[in-house]
Amino acid sequence: MQVVTTIAELRAQLDPMRREGRSIGFVPTMGYLHQGHAALVQAARRECDVVVVSIFVNPLQFAPSEDYESYPRDPERDRGILAAAEVDFLFQPDVREMYPRPLLTQVSVPELSATLEGRTRPTHFQGVATVVLKLFHIVGPHRAYFGQKDGQQVAVVRRLIEDLDLPIDLRAVETVREPDGLALSSRNVYLSPEERQAAPCLHEALLQGREAALAGQGSRAVQAAIEERIRRTPLACLDYAAVVDPRTMQPKSDLTGPVMLAVAASLGRTRLIDNLVLEL
Ligand code: PAF
Repeated sequence: MQVVTTIAELRAQLDPMRREGRSIGFVPTMGYLHQGHAALVQAARRECDVVVVSIFVNPLQFAPSEDYESYPRDPERDRGILAAAEVDFLFQPDVREMYPRPLLTQVSVPELSATLEGRTRPTHFQGVATVVLKLFHIVGPHRAYFGQKDGQQVAVVRRLIEDLDLPIDLRAVETVREPDGLALSSRNVYLSPEERQAAPCLHEALLQGREAALAGQGSRAVQAAIEERIRRTPLACLDYAAVVDPRTMQPKSDLTGPVMLAVAASLGRTRLIDNLVLEL
């Protein structure tokens, strides 16, 4: 695996490969890798000739009150994991390389970004869309791999690709879970032992919602079923439970076709999200 820290060097390496007709798969990450990231890398390895992973904790997508400074980082361990997974290039730029001057250009997908996560994190998806478009231009991938756990991020990036006619195939990879159902996330390390024990309530709430949806109940009842399970967990504080169209992130009242059940809750100071996409 080659570790590359500058945009110019990565382009110099990848341009000839692209010209030779080799397909490039790209997995953007913020590091502190877990099995969820490994699943993205494995999918890229299966489907592409060249696999590029980026590790960049993007300050743009954190609000001043959020955990940018304390976001977990372990570059040595990450490198070991990626080398073992037969990644070809690790792109690991620093903030000066990515943002050498004040950024006057921002990319946003407002309608998809304002709901759900956007209510508590109003600038988050603008930061994500901006860095993802920048990374797409730097890497020039044929396919890009994102975890379905961040379902709203998948919707925002998919729309960005469609609206701007980017020649990139977005692959959403299924959420990887702990045996008790907790979705893997770099932020799970923040949980105290008691919070960790309570954390599977998000997945259980979604399963309860799914049961209601499969039993033919309407979206209000499905939402109430999700909320009920979170409210029954003393350590969890519900942020939202929602039943939305997985492409538009708008509330869905007619429960046919693809439906996304989404939930966000805080356990102590850690905010967790999860979702399930159903085909009804
Ligand atoms: O999902 C993430 O880790 C980040 O939002 C991403 C896509 C790498 C952009 O910084």
